[in-house]
Parts: sequence; structure tokens; C-alpha cells
Amino acid sequence: MSKIITIDELKANNTKSSIWLLIDGKVYDCTKFIDEHPGGDEVILAESGKDATEAFEDVGHSDEARALLPEMLLGTFDKNSGMDIKKLSTAPTSAQKAIEHGSNMMYFIPLSLMGAYFAWRYYSGA
Ligand code: HEM
Repeated sequence: MSKIITIDELKANNTKSSIWLLIDGKVYDCTKFIDEHPGGDEVILAESGKDATEAFEDVGHSDEARALLPEMLLGTFDKNSGMDIKKLSTAPTSAQKAIEHGSNMMYFIPLSLMGAYFAWRYYSGA
């Protein structure tokens, strides 16, 4: 089983002596790789200790670049510790909850009205 890395551990490794990146839910140690990075060290340093998924994907890294990742893999990011990192939150937002709630109501109200109508017909002997 791979190591679980919390947000605090990720954030703590954001200096040149230890550079960790979060890409797609996994944490990578890029400390040694930084000097070899064809895109330069600055871009990686700027993302260190953070969720670099968007930056990594925006560049359109090649399959060769992706093939380098497994060697640097440290572990899996603990999503539950990272609620303050945007995009990582798996909890529905209040807006999403309201929509969900609304759509339940969309079924519930007509169904209860129908039930009430049939109950009324039944009891009134219609
Ligand atoms: C461990 C993570 C990373 C690995 C293994 C990696 C690897 C590579 C490799 C192999 C290339 C050469 C082109 C290619 O094959 O796609 C490249 C280019 C590049 N990378 Fe990364 N990269 C990483 C993270 C990042 C991050 C976080 C950024 C931030 C924006 C970044 C920005 C760039 C840029 C701008 C280039 C283009 C350089 C150019 O074409 O002049 N990379 N990277």
C-alpha cells in the first residue's frame, strides 16, 4: 500500500532542498528532477507544496514526461486533509446540495399530491 500524504506534509516540502508536487491525487518528490526539467526549475518551484495538476496539464506534457512520474512517486494525497486546496474538495458545495435538494422536491411534491388525490377519491367513494 502506498503512503498517505497529508496537506501539511505536502505544504512543508516547498523549498529547493525538498520539492513535492501534487499531481492528479498523487504526491511526487521532484527534488532531484528539478535540475533536469526541460521546462526549467522555476516553474516547478512555483508549484511546489501545492496542487500542480492544472499547471502540469496545461503544458500538455508528453507521454515521456508522464513516464517519469512513477520514479518520483511518494504516495497518495490524503484528500480529507486538503479541503482548503481548491478542486480537491469532494464534499458537495452548498449550491450543489441545494440543486440536489431541489430535484428531490421536484419528485416529492407531485407524488404526494397524486397520493393525496387518490386517497381522497378512495375515501370519498368516488
Ligand atoms: C514531476 C513533474 C514534471 C515532470 C516529470 C515534467 C517533465 C517534463 C518534460 C519531460 C518536458 C519536456 C517536454 C515533454 O516531454 O512534454 C517538460 C516540459 C515542460 N514542463 Fe514539465 N514536468 C513536470 C512538472 C511541470 C510543472 C509543475 C510545470 C509548471 C508549469 C511544468 C512546466 C513545463 C513547461 C513550461 C515545459 C515546456 C518547456 C519547453 O518546451 O520549452 N512542468 N516537462
